[in-house]
Amino acid sequence: MKYSDPLGKWLWGVATSAHQSEGNNVRNDWYHFEMLPRRIKRGDKSGKATDFWNRFEEDIRLAKDFGMNTFRFSLEWSRIIPKPDVVDNSALAHYQKIIDTIREYKLEPMVTLHHFTLPKWIANEGGWVNKRNLDHWKFYVNVIAGNLENVMLWNTINEPNVVIAMGYFTGMFPPGNSFDVPGYVKAMRNILLAHGFAYHILKKYQPHSKIGIVKNITWFYPYRRWSFTENLLAGFFDYMFNEITLRALKTGKLPLSLQPVSFLKGSIDFFGLNYYTKSYVRIVEPGFIAMAKPHEFTTQMGQVPYPEGLRLAIKRVRDVGKPIVITENGVPTLDENVRKAYIEAHLREVEKAIQEGYDVRGYIYWSITDNFEWAEGFEPRFGLVEIDYATLERKPRKTAFWLKERMKNFRYPRNIS
Ligand code: FCB
Repeated sequence: MKYSDPLGKWLWGVATSAHQSEGNNVRNDWYHFEMLPRRIKRGDKSGKATDFWNRFEEDIRLAKDFGMNTFRFSLEWSRIIPKPDVVDNSALAHYQKIIDTIREYKLEPMVTLHHFTLPKWIANEGGWVNKRNLDHWKFYVNVIAGNLENVMLWNTINEPNVVIAMGYFTGMFPPGNSFDVPGYVKAMRNILLAHGFAYHILKKYQPHSKIGIVKNITWFYPYRRWSFTENLLAGFFDYMFNEITLRALKTGKLPLSLQPVSFLKGSIDFFGLNYYTKSYVRIVEPGFIAMAKPHEFTTQMGQVPYPEGLRLAIKRVRDVGKPIVITENGVPTLDENVRKAYIEAHLREVEKAIQEGYDVRGYIYWSITDNFEWAEGFEPRFGLVEIDYATLERKPRKTAFWLKERMKNFRYPRNIS
């Protein structure tokens, strides 16, 4: 084996996504947010986004400068398979170059197969609600697993619960359906099966690599503690958003099935946990979700920071029985004091969880740079590095250097180096 077990060290890094790699002015055959233009705030268009596709080396070098050892990014399915059964070898070669550059900088590449976007030709055939698309998915994963080298950390799907909830429940992401519960359940079943297939295909080709799923945990609380209906709804949202995926991984059972799917149970080597916030459930809000109560501090995306929720999330996913890597945590803000306080509060919760014996193996900040934040457009500023979108110039924010020092004092678990 060429590389050592990546879960044997503390993974400490940053993430970016496929959507930052290319935009609609580069290609027009992929399915993305311009298909729902009115859903994107201020009418922003992703365009080249951060142009990670061309500027990846600069972003990787910055992560190295910040003292990190892990770089998480994702592949764009439609770039690799632009038409059914057609492989673009130059795209594969380009992704291999990104991976190898990460290695040259002595960082561990963590590669995600699916991060929200679908090829247009898959979307036109019903996207995740159409079970037949799973054959195309398997084809894609076989191509990746059989070709891309030097990766020891794979993520199958980024936040199945978020992409499907946004697409079939809130309608904020393509295909833009609201309250489509049957669509939600069907798509969740298929995307979880897709995860299971991907796990086993990757394992077959690359038995030494570690393969995870990336799952967002959001806590749902009743807006009014005494409200019976809001308590009930909070439980419903928790089931739909959090529990369906956890149950599938623990037992192999999909929603609406009692019969477990044998290849799903335990189909991860580590659990990638994304954590940002909590939500309140309120009958009167559109979509039942209130992000904040009046007078609560909120971020640029209207979220209330809730650091203890990260430790609770670690506790919650422990039952899946695998090591946990925090694959995303971060804050959109223009105020570096807020960014620093947010990160510090969350790192402390991770340290506490480790001291309490929870098996956490890493922390990855979202995101290395400012980014095109899906339906939120360009306004939210998550980056450790600021991007000037007129020139695409990168400028590190002072929190990045504070974080470099902070991580030197981080209390790692004793069993890893
Ligand atoms: C997660 C996504 C990531 C980004 C952050 C803020 O849900 O995985 O692409 O949108 O939230």
